[in-house]
Amino acid sequence: MTDLATGPVFTDDYWADPYGTLSRLREIAPVREVDLPDGGSTWLVTRYADVRAAFVDPRLAKDFRSTMPPEQRPAEPLIPGPAGHMLLLNDPPVHTRLRKLVVSTFTVRRIAALRPAIEQIATTLLDRAEQAGEIDLVNDYAVPLPMQVICELLGVPLDDRDAFALWSRTMIDDTSSQEEKHQAQASLTGYLSELVAAKRDAPDEALISALIRASEDGDALSHDEIVAMGMILLIAGHETTSNLVTNSVHAILRDDALRARVVGAESLTPVVEEFLRWTSPVANAPLRFATEDIDMDGVTIPRGAVVTLSVAAANRDPERFDAPELHDADRDLTGHVAFGHGIHFCLGASLARLEGEVALTALFGRFPHLAPAVPLDEIVYRHSMLIHALAALPVRLSP
Ligand code: HEM
Repeated sequence: MTDLATGPVFTDDYWADPYGTLSRLREIAPVREVDLPDGGSTWLVTRYADVRAAFVDPRLAKDFRSTMPPEQRPAEPLIPGPAGHMLLLNDPPVHTRLRKLVVSTFTVRRIAALRPAIEQIATTLLDRAEQAGEIDLVNDYAVPLPMQVICELLGVPLDDRDAFALWSRTMIDDTSSQEEKHQAQASLTGYLSELVAAKRDAPDEALISALIRASEDGDALSHDEIVAMGMILLIAGHETTSNLVTNSVHAILRDDALRARVVGAESLTPVVEEFLRWTSPVANAPLRFATEDIDMDGVTIPRGAVVTLSVAAANRDPERFDAPELHDADRDLTGHVAFGHGIHFCLGASLARLEGEVALTALFGRFPHLAPAVPLDEIVYRHSMLIHALAALPVRLSP
């Protein structure tokens, strides 16, 4: 066993059971620099109180330029093209302005109105699944569902949805080459750019048209900013929600009491909220940079360092949640950090909750005896720092 105070963290032990490693780290080295699996390093923060505080610490920035002395900062974003305008890459005041404009379009009413479309998407996917009898829950249900919901939200025409899905899948697929990812991102950016232009000529009720119309105090989003918003919604809203669904189903397959709680339940709201805490679909918040030396738990994170807030570790910290390894939908869940905290708090949180509820209700309402199609110990996690995701989950729909 490696020495977690100083040795490597992302070992086979971590990928087999991230929570065991995170729990030991939280005790012996709650703030430490770790080598990343793909090279480079980051400071990993694992205690709930530290993670909550760090989420609202203005000394932790999203834009690397903020770590440089003002006179050395380049004026242009470090990432060229529309992508540089994405919410998660920007700090105030740029982020504040973008967020204000997009929030005005992301209304409770718009999200609630998506429910029938989400139910329809779930039903169509399950009709197809029923004919097959056995499916990979990841690729045949949990991934296409949020993908189609985002198309619906943005107003992507039906004919374009397959191409849209393929590009976005390639961009995040562990098995795609860098070249393939690059190509897919370029195709997607080009497509979104044309779509925004088309919506200017022929507006509809969907989100892109609303983003075009959005204005605050005479200010409006530029063409590239709207393209960037489409990209971030797609990236942030897709694999995240699919992991919520897959990880929840995986847990239900292993626990009869949980299944009993889900099958036939009138409302899955508290169950899904606890799944968010318990499975942390976004295991680590996307990176931040220290703009000055930061003291945390007796350690100094140096200026310019990359900092990663471990959502998974914080959400299972016994200092905040009693018996954190137990799924308990009746516990006090306030303050879990599955959706982050502070100015970058997940914009799609209510949509994700709705999708999670609809996906699980539809699945277990129709297939209450859903069973694993392979021994459960053959189910493995993907080696992703960012998301807590199963590679595949083969299931049989009926006994
Ligand atoms: C931000 C988690 C679904 C859109 C975030 C953050 C987390 C998160 C942890 C904060 C990142 C940080 O502070 O570095 C999740 C989880 C989801 C989910 C667990 C599903 C279970 C969605 C959906 C959408 C979405 C469905 C939209 C369609 C966003 C956006 C941001 C964000 C735009 C950036 C907000 C900003 O920078 O101001 N999400 N998310 N997310 N999420 Fe989600």
